[in-house]
Amino acid sequence: MEQYIIKGNKPLEGSVKISGAKNAALGILAAAIMADEPVTVENVPDVRDAHVILSAIKGVGATVKEVDKNTVEINGKTITSVDIQYEQVKKIRASYYLIGALLGKYHEAKVALPGGCDIGSRPIDMHLKAFKALGAEVDILAGGIVWARAKKLTGAHIYFDMVSVGATINLMLAACMAEGDTILENAAKEPHIVDVANFLNAMGAKIKGAGTDVIRIKAVEKLHKATYSIIPDQIEAGTFMIAAAVTRGNVTVCDVIPKHLESISAKLIEMGCEVEEGDDTVRVCAKGRLRSTNIKTLPYPGFPTDMQPQMAVALALAEGTSMVTESVFDNRFRYVDELTRMGGQGKVEGNTFYVDGVEGLTGAQVAAPDLRAGAALVLAALAAEGYSEVEDIMYIQRGYEDFDEKLRGLGARIEIVTSEHDAQKFRLKVG
Ligand code: EPZ
Repeated sequence: MEQYIIKGNKPLEGSVKISGAKNAALGILAAAIMADEPVTVENVPDVRDAHVILSAIKGVGATVKEVDKNTVEINGKTITSVDIQYEQVKKIRASYYLIGALLGKYHEAKVALPGGCDIGSRPIDMHLKAFKALGAEVDILAGGIVWARAKKLTGAHIYFDMVSVGATINLMLAACMAEGDTILENAAKEPHIVDVANFLNAMGAKIKGAGTDVIRIKAVEKLHKATYSIIPDQIEAGTFMIAAAVTRGNVTVCDVIPKHLESISAKLIEMGCEVEEGDDTVRVCAKGRLRSTNIKTLPYPGFPTDMQPQMAVALALAEGTSMVTESVFDNRFRYVDELTRMGGQGKVEGNTFYVDGVEGLTGAQVAAPDLRAGAALVLAALAAEGYSEVEDIMYIQRGYEDFDEKLRGLGARIEIVTSEHDAQKFRLKVG
């Protein structure tokens, strides 16, 4: 089993290039099958979740050409089935986008219910209710397969009960080729919502208002070929910004959209970091000890839930007590016990982690409970005195391209090892 071995307590310095946004890629790769012409998607992050979606669409017959590490050409013309088996998608929740894409294009989809990171109960009731509003019949079959089908899909006025990234994207997919127009109210506004809408528009869809809470979709008959480049990953960028903060380093994240990082930059400034924005870069420099603050996760433009564990690690090292309130998911504190084993202090009550900052953390053997929590533990290990081993890194690899390599580029002492022998070699090398 692969794990990271890390020797911490070294400031990270230099610049790091941020990859394409994983959560935009998952929507876009699913959407790409909706045209019967070749669609080229660039800046696709080379991460596990993207590979799972690509293998699922290959599984139903789509033609997928991997042009290079980050570019893929997809043609949905060769699709022969609307049936996505559990084995193909059990590891990712975003398989639900294949329901929207297949239903929108073929008026039928049979897709295994999503798995994904265990960060609380993650129903898709709003997706299903909204598909029904477009005229689909939806059943959950034995084995947890969602079967959605319609003679025709008709545009509708849909008001989401809660702000949901997944439901917003899924409905853009299902509605863009329906008969008649659709309005989505209380839509999510995350940068990747805008990116998926821009991609669909590049294929000929007529979607307006993405990035606001009302999205208007004028139906079109079909989608056509396009070439599109995915936006940079806001969460990957934020993770490296916090890596600078916790190691008292000086790191520039490159190829980013600084506007998307404002909620993270604002908190880092409050905590005493220097944050300098360029046109497509953000530099974070941390000199002394960080200061405490409070965060509450909210849909965009609020503080992202996907940055909550990483920011909590920074606060674990800050002077004073901070409150970290999770208001999007109900079980996103599974890293706290692991952090405690590294010397972190504080307690979770309800949906709030009361963090008592300590001066330093100490290396330990920990396991990644999920993607972002895993990344947060790597940050803790980079700041900690001594060696740490982070197990279950397959979760981290779901969403971070070449994480260890990029960190090494900033001077981090981190390697992937598969045996105690490799770990010993690393210790001897690093000293
Ligand atoms: C997306 O998940 C992301 N995943 C998550 O990223 C991210 O944490 C989340 O949005 C919030 O930003 C992808 O884009 C693939 P939601 P999603 O629907 O779409 C409730 C990461 O680390 N809800 O916006 O599943 C839900 O339980 C991951 O990259 C319903 O009740 O999130 C949650 O409390 C993990 N019914 C809230 O809404 C529904 O039908 C927001 O979830 C749908 C959602």
